[in-house]
Amino acid sequence: MKKISVAVIGAGVRGMNAYAPYLLENPTLGQVVAEPNEEKRNNFKNRYNIKEENTFYSYNDLISKDKLADALIIATSDEQHYEPAQMALKKGYHILLENPMSNKLEEVIKLGELAKKYPDQVFMICHVLRYTPFFSELKKLVDSKELGELVNIQHNENIGYYHYAHSYIRGNWKNSNETSPLVLAKSCHDMDILLWLTGKRCKYISSFGSLSHMIEENFQDNLLKAYLYAVDSNQTNENLKKAITTGPYGKYVYKCDNNVADHMVSILEFENNITATFNLSDFTNDCSRTTKLMFTHGEVGGNSLKNVIEVHNFGERNHMIIHPKIVKSGHGGGDFKLMDDFIKSVNNREAHIKTSAIDSVESHVMAFAAEYSRLNHEVVDINKFLRNELEKLKK
Ligand SMILES: NC(=O)c1ccc[n+]([C@@H]2O[C@H](COP(=O)([O-])OP(=O)(O)OC[C@H]3O[C@@H](n4cnc5c(N)ncnc54)[C@H](O)[C@@H]3O)[C@@H](O)[C@H]2O)c1
Repeated sequence: MKKISVAVIGAGVRGMNAYAPYLLENPTLGQVVAEPNEEKRNNFKNRYNIKEENTFYSYNDLISKDKLADALIIATSDEQHYEPAQMALKKGYHILLENPMSNKLEEVIKLGELAKKYPDQVFMICHVLRYTPFFSELKKLVDSKELGELVNIQHNENIGYYHYAHSYIRGNWKNSNETSPLVLAKSCHDMDILLWLTGKRCKYISSFGSLSHMIEENFQDNLLKAYLYAVDSNQTNENLKKAITTGPYGKYVYKCDNNVADHMVSILEFENNITATFNLSDFTNDCSRTTKLMFTHGEVGGNSLKNVIEVHNFGERNHMIIHPKIVKSGHGGGDFKLMDDFIKSVNNREAHIKTSAIDSVESHVMAFAAEYSRLNHEVVDINKFLRNELEKLKK
Protein backbone atom coordinates (compact mmCIF):
# COMPACT_ATOMS: atom_id res chain seq x y z
CA MET A 1 0.00 0.00 0.00
CA LYS A 2 1.18 3.49 -0.86
CA LYS A 3 1.75 5.77 2.16
CA ILE A 4 -1.02 8.34 2.25
CA SER A 5 -1.89 11.16 4.61
CA VAL A 6 -5.18 12.45 5.95
CA ALA A 7 -6.32 15.83 7.28
CA VAL A 8 -9.27 16.13 9.67
CA ILE A 9 -11.59 19.12 9.47
CA GLY A 10 -13.59 19.57 12.67
CA ALA A 11 -12.20 17.86 15.78
CA GLY A 12 -15.63 17.53 17.40
CA VAL A 13 -17.39 14.35 18.49
CA ARG A 14 -17.08 12.59 15.13
CA GLY A 15 -13.73 13.99 14.02
CA MET A 16 -12.10 13.25 17.35
CA ASN A 17 -13.84 10.05 18.46
CA ALA A 18 -15.15 8.20 15.43
CA TYR A 19 -12.54 8.39 12.69
CA ALA A 20 -9.42 9.80 14.34
CA PRO A 21 -8.92 6.71 16.56
CA TYR A 22 -8.35 4.85 13.30
CA LEU A 23 -5.50 7.26 12.65
CA LEU A 24 -3.98 6.31 16.01
CA GLU A 25 -3.94 2.69 14.88
CA ASN A 26 -2.36 3.75 11.60
CA PRO A 27 -0.01 6.48 12.84
CA THR A 28 1.42 7.57 9.52
CA LEU A 29 -2.00 8.64 8.24
CA GLY A 30 -3.03 11.57 10.44
CA GLN A 31 -1.00 14.66 9.71
CA VAL A 32 -3.17 17.78 9.66
CA VAL A 33 -6.12 19.24 11.56
CA ALA A 34 -8.39 22.30 11.30
CA GLU A 35 -10.54 23.19 14.31
CA PRO A 36 -11.44 26.68 15.60
CA ASN A 37 -11.88 25.62 19.22
CA GLU A 38 -8.43 25.94 20.78
CA GLU A 39 -8.92 23.27 23.43
CA LYS A 40 -10.16 20.69 20.92
CA ARG A 41 -7.46 21.64 18.41
CA ASN A 42 -4.74 21.16 21.01
CA ASN A 43 -6.22 17.89 22.25
CA PHE A 44 -6.24 16.59 18.71
CA LYS A 45 -2.73 17.82 18.03
CA ASN A 46 -1.34 16.15 21.15
CA ARG A 47 -3.26 12.92 20.78
CA TYR A 48 -2.22 12.42 17.17
CA ASN A 49 1.22 13.95 17.44
CA ILE A 50 0.62 16.61 14.81
CA LYS A 51 3.19 19.29 14.07
CA GLU A 52 2.19 22.84 15.08
CA GLU A 53 2.53 24.09 11.49
CA ASN A 54 -0.06 21.49 10.43
CA THR A 55 -2.77 22.78 12.76
CA PHE A 56 -5.26 25.33 11.45
CA TYR A 57 -8.03 27.43 12.88
CA SER A 58 -10.50 26.83 10.07
CA TYR A 59 -10.99 24.69 6.96
CA ASN A 60 -10.55 27.86 4.93
CA ASP A 61 -6.99 28.32 6.18
CA LEU A 62 -6.16 24.67 5.51
CA ILE A 63 -7.71 24.21 2.08
CA SER A 64 -6.51 27.55 0.71
CA LYS A 65 -2.90 26.36 1.18
CA ASP A 66 -1.17 24.08 -1.32
CA LYS A 67 -2.34 20.50 -0.80
CA LEU A 68 -1.15 19.29 2.62
CA ALA A 69 -2.49 15.73 2.57
CA ASP A 70 -3.93 13.22 0.12
CA ALA A 71 -7.34 13.09 1.72
CA LEU A 72 -9.67 15.10 3.95
CA ILE A 73 -12.22 13.94 6.50
CA ILE A 74 -14.88 16.63 6.79
CA ALA A 75 -16.59 16.32 10.17
CA THR A 76 -17.96 19.82 10.68
CA SER A 77 -21.66 20.40 11.37
CA ASP A 78 -24.30 19.78 8.68
CA GLU A 79 -24.49 23.37 7.47
CA GLN A 80 -20.70 23.52 7.09
CA HIS A 81 -20.26 20.59 4.70
CA TYR A 82 -20.85 22.08 1.29
CA GLU A 83 -18.26 24.82 1.34
CA PRO A 84 -15.23 22.80 2.51
CA ALA A 85 -16.24 19.84 0.31
CA GLN A 86 -16.44 21.85 -2.89
CA MET A 87 -13.26 23.78 -2.08
CA ALA A 88 -11.39 20.53 -1.34
CA LEU A 89 -12.60 18.78 -4.50
CA LYS A 90 -11.37 21.69 -6.60
CA LYS A 91 -8.02 21.47 -4.80
CA GLY A 92 -7.64 17.79 -5.68
CA TYR A 93 -8.30 16.17 -2.29
CA HIS A 94 -9.98 12.80 -1.82
CA ILE A 95 -12.88 13.33 0.57
CA LEU A 96 -14.73 11.47 3.28
CA LEU A 97 -17.70 13.68 4.12
CA GLU A 98 -19.94 13.27 7.15
CA ASN A 99 -23.63 12.96 6.50
CA PRO A 100 -25.92 14.59 5.74
CA MET A 101 -23.98 15.87 2.73
CA SER A 102 -25.65 19.23 3.37
CA ASN A 103 -28.79 20.49 5.07
CA LYS A 104 -29.85 22.11 1.76
CA LEU A 105 -31.10 19.94 -1.08
CA GLU A 106 -29.63 22.23 -3.75
CA GLU A 107 -26.16 21.81 -2.19
CA VAL A 108 -26.56 18.03 -2.04
CA ILE A 109 -27.34 18.02 -5.76
CA LYS A 110 -24.40 20.31 -6.52
CA LEU A 111 -22.06 18.02 -4.57
CA GLY A 112 -23.34 15.05 -6.61
CA GLU A 113 -22.55 17.01 -9.79
CA LEU A 114 -19.09 17.90 -8.52
CA ALA A 115 -18.44 14.23 -7.72
CA LYS A 116 -19.11 13.46 -11.40
CA LYS A 117 -16.83 16.29 -12.47
CA TYR A 118 -13.88 14.92 -10.46
CA PRO A 119 -14.12 11.15 -11.06
CA ASP A 120 -10.46 10.55 -10.23
CA GLN A 121 -10.94 11.68 -6.65
CA VAL A 122 -12.59 9.47 -4.03
CA PHE A 123 -15.65 11.23 -2.68
CA MET A 124 -17.34 9.10 -0.05
CA ILE A 125 -20.17 9.79 2.38
CA CYS A 126 -20.13 8.43 5.94
CA HIS A 127 -23.10 6.07 5.59
CA VAL A 128 -21.53 3.85 8.22
CA LEU A 129 -24.46 1.43 8.46
CA ARG A 130 -23.51 -0.18 5.15
CA TYR A 131 -20.25 -1.19 6.78
CA THR A 132 -21.76 -2.85 9.85
CA PRO A 133 -21.75 -6.65 10.05
CA PHE A 134 -25.44 -6.45 11.04
CA PHE A 135 -26.69 -4.73 7.88
CA SER A 136 -24.15 -6.59 5.73
CA GLU A 137 -25.77 -9.88 6.86
CA LEU A 138 -29.21 -8.54 5.95
CA LYS A 139 -27.91 -7.46 2.55
CA LYS A 140 -26.39 -10.92 1.97
CA LEU A 141 -29.74 -12.55 2.73
CA VAL A 142 -31.52 -10.29 0.22
CA ASP A 143 -28.93 -10.79 -2.51
CA SER A 144 -28.73 -14.57 -2.04
CA LYS A 145 -32.45 -14.89 -2.89
CA GLU A 146 -32.53 -17.91 -0.57
CA LEU A 147 -35.90 -16.73 0.69
CA GLY A 148 -37.13 -15.60 -2.71
CA GLU A 149 -37.82 -12.02 -3.70
CA LEU A 150 -37.92 -9.18 -1.20
CA VAL A 151 -41.47 -7.80 -1.08
CA ASN A 152 -41.75 -5.62 1.97
CA ILE A 153 -39.64 -4.00 4.72
CA GLN A 154 -40.57 -2.78 8.16
CA HIS A 155 -37.71 -0.70 9.51
CA ASN A 156 -37.61 1.13 12.83
CA GLU A 157 -35.09 3.58 14.08
CA ASN A 158 -35.41 3.64 17.85
CA ILE A 159 -33.65 6.85 18.82
CA GLY A 160 -33.84 6.34 22.60
CA TYR A 161 -35.44 9.05 24.74
CA TYR A 162 -32.12 10.05 26.35
CA HIS A 163 -30.28 10.34 23.03
CA TYR A 164 -33.15 12.39 21.64
CA ALA A 165 -33.05 14.68 24.70
CA HIS A 166 -29.33 15.13 24.32
CA SER A 167 -29.02 15.74 20.58
CA TYR A 168 -32.45 16.84 19.35
CA ILE A 169 -33.81 18.91 22.23
CA ARG A 170 -30.72 20.44 23.77
CA GLY A 171 -27.99 19.62 21.30
CA ASN A 172 -26.78 20.46 17.80
CA TRP A 173 -29.84 19.21 15.88
CA LYS A 174 -32.64 20.71 17.96
CA ASN A 175 -33.86 23.29 15.48
CA SER A 176 -34.34 22.62 11.77
CA ASN A 177 -34.16 26.35 10.99
CA GLU A 178 -30.54 26.26 12.09
CA THR A 179 -29.49 22.77 10.98
CA SER A 180 -31.37 19.79 9.54
CA PRO A 181 -34.80 18.27 10.09
CA LEU A 182 -34.75 15.06 12.15
CA VAL A 183 -35.30 12.75 9.20
CA LEU A 184 -32.27 14.16 7.40
CA ALA A 185 -29.94 14.42 10.40
CA LYS A 186 -30.80 11.08 11.93
CA SER A 187 -32.14 9.05 9.07
CA CYS A 188 -30.46 9.82 5.76
CA HIS A 189 -28.67 6.63 6.93
CA ASP A 190 -31.93 4.73 7.06
CA MET A 191 -33.09 5.98 3.67
CA ASP A 192 -29.72 4.83 2.40
CA ILE A 193 -30.12 1.40 4.00
CA LEU A 194 -33.58 0.97 2.46
CA LEU A 195 -32.13 1.84 -0.96
CA TRP A 196 -29.23 -0.53 -0.44
CA LEU A 197 -31.30 -3.46 0.80
CA THR A 198 -33.92 -3.18 -1.93
CA GLY A 199 -31.36 -2.39 -4.63
CA LYS A 200 -34.16 -0.35 -6.24
CA ARG A 201 -35.06 3.29 -6.62
CA CYS A 202 -37.69 4.85 -4.43
CA LYS A 203 -40.72 6.11 -6.39
CA TYR A 204 -43.09 7.57 -3.80
CA ILE A 205 -42.91 8.58 -0.18
CA SER A 206 -45.47 9.81 2.30
CA SER A 207 -44.72 10.85 5.87
CA PHE A 208 -46.50 11.97 9.01
CA GLY A 209 -45.24 13.12 12.37
CA SER A 210 -44.73 16.02 14.70
CA LEU A 211 -43.12 17.34 17.82
CA SER A 212 -45.78 16.23 20.24
CA HIS A 213 -44.31 15.78 23.66
CA MET A 214 -41.19 17.78 24.53
CA ILE A 215 -42.98 21.08 24.67
CA GLU A 216 -43.62 23.46 27.51
CA GLU A 217 -47.28 22.57 28.02
CA ASN A 218 -46.18 19.04 29.01
CA PHE A 219 -43.76 20.29 31.66
CA GLN A 220 -44.19 18.38 34.92
CA ASP A 221 -41.60 18.15 37.65
CA ASN A 222 -42.08 14.42 38.14
CA LEU A 223 -41.14 13.76 34.52
CA LEU A 224 -37.85 15.55 34.78
CA LYS A 225 -35.78 12.73 36.19
CA ALA A 226 -35.99 10.48 33.19
CA TYR A 227 -35.12 13.22 30.79
CA LEU A 228 -32.19 14.50 32.78
CA TYR A 229 -30.38 11.24 32.12
CA ALA A 230 -27.98 12.74 29.62
CA VAL A 231 -26.51 15.06 32.21
CA ASP A 232 -27.45 13.36 35.47
CA SER A 233 -25.60 10.09 34.96
CA ASN A 234 -22.51 8.96 36.83
CA GLN A 235 -20.18 10.74 34.45
CA THR A 236 -19.36 13.43 37.01
CA ASN A 237 -16.19 14.96 35.63
CA GLU A 238 -15.24 18.60 35.17
CA ASN A 239 -16.28 18.73 31.53
CA LEU A 240 -19.70 17.41 32.33
CA LYS A 241 -20.16 20.01 35.05
CA LYS A 242 -19.12 22.73 32.64
CA ALA A 243 -21.51 21.43 30.00
CA ILE A 244 -24.40 21.53 32.46
CA THR A 245 -23.71 24.94 33.90
CA THR A 246 -22.58 26.84 30.83
CA GLY A 247 -24.06 24.93 27.88
CA PRO A 248 -27.52 23.79 26.85
CA TYR A 249 -27.31 20.42 28.62
CA GLY A 250 -28.62 21.67 31.95
CA LYS A 251 -31.83 23.07 30.49
CA TYR A 252 -35.21 21.50 31.18
CA VAL A 253 -36.06 19.44 28.14
CA TYR A 254 -39.62 20.76 28.15
CA LYS A 255 -38.39 24.35 28.02
CA CYS A 256 -35.97 24.41 25.10
CA ASP A 257 -36.13 26.05 21.69
CA ASN A 258 -36.37 22.71 19.86
CA ASN A 259 -38.69 22.27 16.90
CA VAL A 260 -37.77 18.95 15.24
CA ALA A 261 -40.27 16.07 15.19
CA ASP A 262 -40.12 13.53 18.00
CA HIS A 263 -41.89 10.82 15.99
CA MET A 264 -42.30 10.34 12.28
CA VAL A 265 -43.59 7.51 10.12
CA SER A 266 -42.96 7.15 6.39
CA ILE A 267 -44.37 4.77 3.83
CA LEU A 268 -42.36 4.17 0.70
CA GLU A 269 -42.86 2.51 -2.65
CA PHE A 270 -39.81 1.28 -4.56
CA GLU A 271 -39.44 -0.12 -8.06
CA ASN A 272 -40.58 -3.76 -8.45
CA ASN A 273 -43.54 -2.98 -6.16
CA ILE A 274 -41.38 -3.30 -3.05
CA THR A 275 -42.93 -1.38 -0.18
CA ALA A 276 -41.49 -0.24 3.13
CA THR A 277 -42.51 1.46 6.32
CA PHE A 278 -40.01 3.45 8.31
CA ASN A 279 -40.77 4.40 11.89
CA LEU A 280 -38.50 6.98 13.53
CA SER A 281 -39.24 7.56 17.17
CA ASP A 282 -37.83 9.21 20.27
CA PHE A 283 -40.15 7.22 22.53
CA THR A 284 -38.00 4.13 22.88
CA ASN A 285 -35.96 2.64 25.66
CA ASP A 286 -33.01 1.64 23.48
CA CYS A 287 -30.92 3.25 20.77
CA SER A 288 -31.26 0.60 18.10
CA ARG A 289 -32.54 -0.35 14.71
CA THR A 290 -35.05 -3.15 14.28
CA THR A 291 -35.72 -4.43 10.80
CA LYS A 292 -38.07 -7.01 9.38
CA LEU A 293 -37.65 -8.18 5.80
CA MET A 294 -40.53 -10.05 4.19
CA PHE A 295 -39.75 -12.25 1.20
CA THR A 296 -41.86 -14.43 -1.07
CA HIS A 297 -40.65 -17.57 0.78
CA GLY A 298 -39.55 -16.42 4.20
CA GLU A 299 -39.13 -13.74 6.79
CA VAL A 300 -36.11 -12.17 8.49
CA GLY A 301 -36.13 -10.13 11.69
CA GLY A 302 -33.13 -8.33 13.14
CA ASN A 303 -32.29 -6.23 16.17
CA SER A 304 -29.06 -4.28 15.83
CA LEU A 305 -28.61 -3.77 19.59
CA LYS A 306 -29.11 -7.43 20.46
CA ASN A 307 -27.01 -8.28 17.41
CA VAL A 308 -29.41 -11.02 16.40
CA ILE A 309 -30.99 -11.90 13.07
CA GLU A 310 -33.70 -14.59 12.87
CA VAL A 311 -34.29 -16.25 9.53
CA HIS A 312 -37.53 -18.13 8.93
CA ASN A 313 -38.04 -20.20 5.82
CA PHE A 314 -41.79 -20.67 5.25
CA GLY A 315 -42.78 -24.30 5.77
CA GLU A 316 -39.70 -25.23 7.75
CA ARG A 317 -40.12 -25.93 11.43
CA ASN A 318 -36.78 -24.63 12.61
CA HIS A 319 -35.43 -21.19 12.10
CA MET A 320 -31.85 -20.04 11.85
CA ILE A 321 -30.25 -17.46 14.14
CA ILE A 322 -27.36 -15.33 12.95
CA HIS A 323 -25.15 -13.39 15.37
CA PRO A 324 -23.25 -10.95 13.14
CA LYS A 325 -19.56 -10.62 13.81
CA ILE A 326 -18.69 -8.09 16.51
CA VAL A 327 -16.26 -5.43 15.31
CA LYS A 328 -14.91 -2.87 17.77
CA SER A 329 -15.56 0.83 16.96
CA GLY A 330 -18.66 3.00 16.85
CA HIS A 331 -21.86 2.22 14.94
CA GLY A 332 -21.53 -1.53 15.40
CA GLY A 333 -18.08 -1.55 13.81
CA GLY A 334 -19.16 0.63 10.89
CA ASP A 335 -16.91 3.61 11.68
CA PHE A 336 -13.64 1.70 11.29
CA LYS A 337 -14.76 -0.44 8.37
CA LEU A 338 -15.77 2.72 6.53
CA MET A 339 -12.32 4.20 7.20
CA ASP A 340 -10.72 0.99 5.91
CA ASP A 341 -12.68 1.27 2.69
CA PHE A 342 -11.87 4.96 2.31
CA ILE A 343 -8.13 4.43 2.72
CA LYS A 344 -8.22 1.41 0.38
CA SER A 345 -10.06 3.43 -2.26
CA VAL A 346 -7.62 6.33 -2.02
CA ASN A 347 -4.80 3.83 -2.49
CA ASN A 348 -6.47 2.00 -5.31
CA ARG A 349 -8.97 3.96 -7.37
CA GLU A 350 -10.28 0.74 -8.90
CA ALA A 351 -11.55 -0.45 -5.48
CA HIS A 352 -15.32 -0.56 -5.15
CA ILE A 353 -16.81 2.25 -3.02
CA LYS A 354 -19.98 1.35 -1.14
CA THR A 355 -21.05 4.89 -0.28
CA SER A 356 -20.09 7.21 -3.12
CA ALA A 357 -21.31 10.81 -3.08
CA ILE A 358 -23.02 10.23 -6.43
CA ASP A 359 -25.11 7.36 -5.02
CA SER A 360 -25.78 9.13 -1.74
CA VAL A 361 -27.66 11.97 -3.42
CA GLU A 362 -30.64 9.64 -3.79
CA SER A 363 -31.02 8.84 -0.09
CA HIS A 364 -30.74 12.53 0.74
CA VAL A 365 -33.44 13.40 -1.81
CA MET A 366 -35.68 10.81 -0.09
CA ALA A 367 -35.09 12.42 3.32
CA PHE A 368 -35.90 15.91 1.99
CA ALA A 369 -38.99 14.49 0.25
CA ALA A 370 -40.11 12.82 3.49
CA GLU A 371 -39.83 16.09 5.38
CA TYR A 372 -41.73 17.91 2.61
CA SER A 373 -44.45 15.28 2.81
CA ARG A 374 -44.68 15.53 6.60
CA LEU A 375 -45.02 19.30 6.49
CA ASN A 376 -47.41 19.46 3.54
CA HIS A 377 -49.42 16.26 3.97
CA GLU A 378 -48.70 15.24 0.39
CA VAL A 379 -47.54 12.01 -1.20
CA VAL A 380 -44.29 12.91 -2.93
CA ASP A 381 -43.35 11.56 -6.36
CA ILE A 382 -39.57 11.40 -5.96
CA ASN A 383 -38.76 11.94 -9.65
CA LYS A 384 -41.00 15.00 -9.86
CA PHE A 385 -39.61 16.34 -6.59
CA LEU A 386 -36.07 16.07 -7.93
CA ARG A 387 -37.02 17.54 -11.32
CA ASN A 388 -38.56 20.58 -9.61
CA GLU A 389 -35.42 21.08 -7.60
CA LEU A 390 -33.24 20.83 -10.73
CA GLU A 391 -35.48 23.37 -12.50
CA LYS A 392 -35.05 25.76 -9.56
CA LEU A 393 -31.28 25.33 -9.77
CA LYS A 394 -31.26 26.23 -13.48
CA LYS A 395 -33.04 29.55 -12.84
N1 LIG B 1 -22.05 9.18 10.17
C1 LIG B 1 -22.72 9.17 11.31
O1 LIG B 1 -23.19 8.13 11.72
C2 LIG B 1 -22.87 10.42 12.11
C3 LIG B 1 -23.17 10.33 13.47
C4 LIG B 1 -23.25 11.53 14.20
C5 LIG B 1 -23.05 12.74 13.56
N2 LIG B 1 -22.80 12.79 12.22
C6 LIG B 1 -22.54 14.05 11.53
O2 LIG B 1 -21.16 14.40 11.76
C7 LIG B 1 -21.00 15.83 11.72
C8 LIG B 1 -20.25 16.29 12.97
O3 LIG B 1 -21.01 15.98 14.12
P1 LIG B 1 -20.36 16.13 15.57
O4 LIG B 1 -21.30 15.50 16.52
O5 LIG B 1 -18.95 15.71 15.54
O6 LIG B 1 -20.43 17.72 15.75
P2 LIG B 1 -19.47 18.61 16.65
O7 LIG B 1 -20.16 19.92 16.81
O8 LIG B 1 -19.05 17.87 17.86
O9 LIG B 1 -18.17 18.80 15.73
C9 LIG B 1 -18.06 19.74 14.71
C10 LIG B 1 -16.71 20.44 14.87
O10 LIG B 1 -16.47 21.30 13.76
C11 LIG B 1 -15.76 22.42 14.26
N3 LIG B 1 -15.80 23.55 13.31
C12 LIG B 1 -16.68 24.58 13.27
N4 LIG B 1 -16.31 25.46 12.29
C13 LIG B 1 -15.18 24.95 11.72
C14 LIG B 1 -14.32 25.41 10.69
N5 LIG B 1 -14.58 26.55 10.04
N6 LIG B 1 -13.24 24.66 10.36
C15 LIG B 1 -12.98 23.50 11.01
N7 LIG B 1 -13.76 23.01 12.01
C16 LIG B 1 -14.85 23.74 12.36
C17 LIG B 1 -16.46 22.72 15.58
O11 LIG B 1 -15.70 23.57 16.42
C18 LIG B 1 -16.65 21.32 16.13
O12 LIG B 1 -15.58 20.93 16.96
C19 LIG B 1 -22.42 16.39 11.60
O13 LIG B 1 -22.67 16.72 10.28
C20 LIG B 1 -23.31 15.23 12.04
O14 LIG B 1 -24.60 15.28 11.46
C21 LIG B 1 -22.70 11.65 11.51
